[in-house]
Amino acid sequence: MEKTLVLIKPDAFAKHHVGDILKRYEEEGLRIVAMKEVRMDERLAALHYVEHIGRPYYGDLVGFMTSGPIVALVLEGEDAIARVRKINGKTNPKEAEEGTLRKLYAANGSRNAVHASDSPENAAREIRNFFSAMEIFDETYTIPD
Ligand code: PPS
Repeated sequence: MEKTLVLIKPDAFAKHHVGDILKRYEEEGLRIVAMKEVRMDERLAALHYVEHIGRPYYGDLVGFMTSGPIVALVLEGEDAIARVRKINGKTNPKEAEEGTLRKLYAANGSRNAVHASDSPENAAREIRNFFSAMEIFDETYTIPD
């Protein structure tokens, strides 16, 4: 079982697509093992997008991601990292396959509805940025007596 971090970005949140997006992941058999509504600040954005600091689009990316509420979730399933990236579709919706979340809900390559981790190392780091161990209800969790 693999875990991945998903962010439902401010554009999808503002357009009321949170429910549609969650439904799609659940229909694909992924389990929501953690979820919260948050607003990123610049520090959290810098931790999350550390690989992109210094890139020409970094300022726009952080401005956008801190502009309103987002929903952060941890999805669990077999091969979850690759599967969720496929469900989300390519960064730019013009290049995304039909039926992907970005094809359905993204306006362009920077206002693109969803984020998902791209490797096991980044998934572990990104999940830690948003959730404590106590907030993750995975298959090892049992309901106390
Ligand atoms: S990916 O998915 O990592 O291969 O995508 P990549 O093209 O490398 O982009 C990384 C993230 O940066 C965002 N991005 C931008 N934001 C604002 N303006 C511009 N021009 C821009 N170009 C890329 C892109 O949406 C990716 O965000 P995440 O949250 O990782 O999907």
